[in-house]
Amino acid sequence: MYKTIKDIDLKNKKVILRVAYDVPLKKNGNEWTVVDDSRIKISIPTIEYLLEQNCKIILVSYLGRPNGKIVGDLRLKPVAKKLKQIFKKEKVSYLEDCIGKKVENTIKDMKSNEIILLENTRFYPEEEKNDLKFAKKLADLGEIFINDAFAQSHRDYASTVGITKFLPSAMGLNFEKEIKILTKIKTNPKKPLVIIIGGVKMDSKIDVIKNFLKQADLILIGGVIGLIFLKELGYKVGELPGSFLNSQTNDTIKKMLVELLPFVGEKIILPIDGVIEKTIGLKKQSKEIDIAFLNSYNLPISILDIGRQTIDLFSQYIQKAKTIIWNGPMGLFEKEKFSQGTKKIAQAIANSKAYSIIGGGDTEEAINKFNLNKKISHVCVAGGAMLEFLADKKLPALEALKNQNAKISAYGRSAEGRKM
Ligand code: 3PG
Repeated sequence: MYKTIKDIDLKNKKVILRVAYDVPLKKNGNEWTVVDDSRIKISIPTIEYLLEQNCKIILVSYLGRPNGKIVGDLRLKPVAKKLKQIFKKEKVSYLEDCIGKKVENTIKDMKSNEIILLENTRFYPEEEKNDLKFAKKLADLGEIFINDAFAQSHRDYASTVGITKFLPSAMGLNFEKEIKILTKIKTNPKKPLVIIIGGVKMDSKIDVIKNFLKQADLILIGGVIGLIFLKELGYKVGELPGSFLNSQTNDTIKKMLVELLPFVGEKIILPIDGVIEKTIGLKKQSKEIDIAFLNSYNLPISILDIGRQTIDLFSQYIQKAKTIIWNGPMGLFEKEKFSQGTKKIAQAIANSKAYSIIGGGDTEEAINKFNLNKKISHVCVAGGAMLEFLADKKLPALEALKNQNAKISAYGRSAEGRKM
């Protein structure tokens, strides 16, 4: 199917290692620092493996969404600082570009076990267009391409897909680990399988809900996604963030939503109560309300969390599960008074004996905030890529790696004089 890092002879090679360093940053004075280094940490095993092979390591990633322009706040410099703290024995440097003469010259003089982090590839519009000339410029910097960026594998980019046309390419250790775990969960989960979906991004989650209808025993839905379902059932849920349900491009989403409605109450379980905010005098107070009575309230109201009855109901189902997949918070957990739904569901998952997987930036942030990450069987740092993989969509970067066998064998024979 695909080759992994262990299938290629990497001894002393100049390796382009694609990583997913799309990390949250915070400004301290004039300096940006990495708030959560999970995405850097998961790349360590692959980097260490390459160091054992005496490789010259060129790290490539994008960060944030600079839309093809140089954005000072989205430079990868703070990541280089973290890498220097992690790899104290090695020479780690950072270049303020990812292609061009200066980059080429610096890389030409690289020594074994040196690590160079290139600048954000999304500073070039060619990256997102999978421009092959740009991909070739990147490819020309190294001899072998290793993709360890599972979290960015749903992007059909020059640095994830195009580059594989020019170099023998294989999968890194973290990418392989994610694929193995998620494939198992998708094809052969221990039952009952309970999926919990929350958050806001309906476009990336509705496919997952649809895809798991057969396989899952229950799909518990909270967050804004739960409210969208309730709205479609005729409940006056108030203003929802995002206006995608009105836009033409989302006709497909709306159609899928309507197709899913008959499963509500059977496989799909929606919130039965919620937390709202009321202004009394000058003060804002939160209050729980039953969804059944929602339409008798004077609007506008906004539901900002699931209520206690929903927490109890969801927790009972979670207790009976043998496999749990969770993506997306149950409410506006960043605010203390609307954090209980997400917190209690996180605790229920952490206390269950089931094999649990959580994925996505917000969900990971919530788990970290409540200090429960050690009690989750697998925390997947990828959001979109995990959802697309679970929804049975093809990941362009994975597909690109699958077509590598011929090239790698040819490379093995000609360059190394032996078969791989
Ligand atoms: C993520 O954070 O899920 C990935 O890095 C993808 O980010 P993107 O949606 O900006 O491509």
